[in-house]
Amino acid sequence: MTAVRRVGIRGTGACVPERVLSNDDLQKMVDTSDEWITTRTGIKERRIIADDKATSDLAIEASEKALADAGISAADLDMIIVATISSDYVIPSTACLLQSRLKARHIGAFDIQAACSGFIYAVATAQKFIESGSAHNVLVVGAEALSRVTDYQDRASCILFGDGAGAVILSDQFERGEILSVDLHADGDGEDFIKIKAGGSRHSASHQTVDGREHYMRVRGRDVYRFAVSRMVELVESARQRHPDVALGLVIPHQVNLRIIESARDRLGLQDEQVYVNIDRFGNTSSASIPIGLDEARRAGRLDGEQGKLLVMCAFGAGLTWGAVSLKW
Ligand SMILES: CC(C)(COP(=O)(O)OP(=O)(O)OC[C@H]1O[C@@H](n2cnc3c(N)ncnc32)[C@H](O)[C@@H]1OP(=O)(O)O)[C@@H](O)C(=O)NCCC(=O)NCCS
Repeated sequence: MTAVRRVGIRGTGACVPERVLSNDDLQKMVDTSDEWITTRTGIKERRIIADDKATSDLAIEASEKALADAGISAADLDMIIVATISSDYVIPSTACLLQSRLKARHIGAFDIQAACSGFIYAVATAQKFIESGSAHNVLVVGAEALSRVTDYQDRASCILFGDGAGAVILSDQFERGEILSVDLHADGDGEDFIKIKAGGSRHSASHQTVDGREHYMRVRGRDVYRFAVSRMVELVESARQRHPDVALGLVIPHQVNLRIIESARDRLGLQDEQVYVNIDRFGNTSSASIPIGLDEARRAGRLDGEQGKLLVMCAFGAGLTWGAVSLKW
């Protein structure tokens, strides 16, 4: 019998657009205020993609950085998985665009759609291919141009979202970040919590759907709030229980709302510095938020003292979906 291979993080990279959309800017667009946004969400600014760019442009930059960090070239990749809800096109997938632009071999390349939990789902999928010996190096990307599906006339949602991409190279050759477990969940009963109603096969694009602004994301903020707090608590608790012998170091949660993160942190009895937060600068970038956070934390030396400790990445989002990846750093 072949032994199951160990899988870890060989490299990371991230990319955010240069353009900043501040709370003051939003104040000029909808009936809101910096004070409301800051106290209710913790967000001060978010990044917005240039008019002539799309999700794959952010993904490619994050991927090239992750490849360089891993010390491998695109030719060494065995698979590409992109998590996104804002792909360049309905078809082809953003992963195929990346395969071409990176000049990778004709390897498997596909997108995964699990909304804000997409990166967690993508890592879980990649891990299985490496673990089974079907792949050595897999590029996993979370990339979003959420500004393209955000309604800047809807004050309840437009304050939340930003654009960006993060990438990791998962590999059977690694120094840090061995994956210990993955934990995936879904509950479609919550389909209306976060939804883009039109553009799919139920309400295909028409003048009527465009006039009704139905191709933009709608959120039931209060419902998502309650859901996200309890799921974050459950996911981290479950990670602790699965790995009782590894001390919990850092949690990198999906950046959904500072109050949600702080409320879960308090219920979990964690210290401030045990929970990574960058929502003030980037807002909610859906599937990109965790890999951006991981890359930032690593490069800023925030993981230097975490050797041998448990690092939990956890996410929750539309679907509903939620999930976590536990790593030993
Ligand atoms: C969206 C969110 C910030 C709203 O905060 P909240 O404290 O729940 O606020 P509510 O939705 O209850 O709204 C409270 C009031 O503020 C108003 N309000 C909503 N958006 C506002 C804005 N941008 N500026 C000013 N007032 C606003 C509402 O109209 C409401 O007014 P009312 O009491 O007169 O009816 C919060 O619920 C949240 O972050 N939810 C999760 C985020 C999410 O859904 N993410 C997407 C998927 S991951």
